[in-house]
Amino acid sequence: MGYILAIDQGTTGSTVLVVDVRSRGEVKVIGRDTIEFPQHFPETGWVEHDLEDIWQSVETAAKRALTTAATLDRDFRVEKIAAIGITNQRETLCAFDRASAAARSRAIVWQCKRSTDICQRLKADGLEKTFRERTGLVLDPYFSGTKITWLMENRPELAREIASGRTVLGTVDTFLVARLTGGKSFVTEPSNASRTLAFDIRKGTWDEELLRTLKIPSVDALAEVRDSASKFGVTKGLSFLPDGVPITGVLGDQQAALAGQTCFEPGEAKCTYGTGAFLLANLGNEPKSSRAGLLTTIAWSLGGKRTYAFEGAAFIAGAAVQFLRDQLQLLDRASESEALATGVQAAPEVYFVPALAGLGAPHWDPRAQGAFLGLTRGTTKAQMVRAVLDGIAFQVADLTDAIAADLGQPLKILRVDGGASANGLLMKSQAEFASVIVDQPTQLETTALGAALFAAMGAGIFSGIDELKKLRKVDQLFSTSNSADERRRVETQRAGWRRAIHAVQVFAG
Ligand code: G3P
Repeated sequence: MGYILAIDQGTTGSTVLVVDVRSRGEVKVIGRDTIEFPQHFPETGWVEHDLEDIWQSVETAAKRALTTAATLDRDFRVEKIAAIGITNQRETLCAFDRASAAARSRAIVWQCKRSTDICQRLKADGLEKTFRERTGLVLDPYFSGTKITWLMENRPELAREIASGRTVLGTVDTFLVARLTGGKSFVTEPSNASRTLAFDIRKGTWDEELLRTLKIPSVDALAEVRDSASKFGVTKGLSFLPDGVPITGVLGDQQAALAGQTCFEPGEAKCTYGTGAFLLANLGNEPKSSRAGLLTTIAWSLGGKRTYAFEGAAFIAGAAVQFLRDQLQLLDRASESEALATGVQAAPEVYFVPALAGLGAPHWDPRAQGAFLGLTRGTTKAQMVRAVLDGIAFQVADLTDAIAADLGQPLKILRVDGGASANGLLMKSQAEFASVIVDQPTQLETTALGAALFAAMGAGIFSGIDELKKLRKVDQLFSTSNSADERRRVETQRAGWRRAIHAVQVFAG
């Protein structure tokens, strides 16, 4: 015993880690694998995933990670997996058969804009304030709730199945737990539930009135909500694990990264640079409302006690570099961006606004689209790449400003993780633009790690959060330059960025 299988089911791929938690002072990753899966864009602004692709990517990554673990660690055997932790892309809506967990339609991905008009309608009905107060969220197609409304209004056959209870709805954690348990468990937990627009974050329950507004026929269509480190069910009928392995930790991926970064004290904040960039600051046990365009969300629930967080979500971050590579073909590999852009200036002449999937916090404009601005005949490829990296860092600097405004004090340290945080130039720019110390840990895979830690807690291997706090180790710090010239230059660059953001919103009409 003493090993955890951590599943990180993300937007573009699934990562599985085998984590050795036998020694209390450190956690060791002894097996790891990632499998990507196809993205579907059936209409402009729509994004879908095939649930079978998601499941197969998890299955394959798990098998490979377990094989690596057995090769690298002579003590390891599959029978020694004590528990499973799950973390997942949030807000993505899954519809599946209650009994068999077979997919009933493609998943509607968090980036999908198909419910923009439904959000407009709810706003026109004066409901924004109610949703904001009860759920901590804004009316944006990002969240699962209006995706459900869209299904109920546009897929009559599926709507009938949902109303009859044969087909159920859930976030990706719920689908994975259902599959892992052979259809036995239909469960979720508060960090995922709080992303649906149907969950009262103060009471910790589904809100029947919001369910009706969203056209969700019954609370039975949604999963039972349990604590984030608790018993979610046991494996049944899997090809890669024996029956009976308990699932004891589940968290939405950004909340899992908050845990993996050990941001357990109020005011501690992290930013994960994945597909998007997600900045979360721990708020403690009392939810606060944002005045600066942030979300209030549940970080986790432990022993029936909820911890809250402010969240700033920028929908496109690492995906902007992929866009340079795959769509514009300016790069062969995403990792080339750092060398190409080092020593090159873009702002305050050239800007890129990464609104490729609308604008999230603090602007919340689903109609906005991405743009390069300030191009001339002399603009080079290197400047365009630099503008993309700057655009990611400017977005996050807007979020640190919003967090500072809401917390009433500047953010001093920002813990970072996720694929694009390995880009040193991006991290240096982040420290400059946001005027913070950027703190990079040795373990950058904090999302899966957070799920592993919660699963270990749920299985009783770790006693509680105090024990987890000791596990984080700093690798590198990036700090702001204190020279007055440099601060002035950053101010000019950020003023240009504000004009660029304004321009894409004006263009959207
Ligand atoms: O809210 C969306 C977020 O959960 C997606 O995260 O890591 O898949 O980009 P990621």
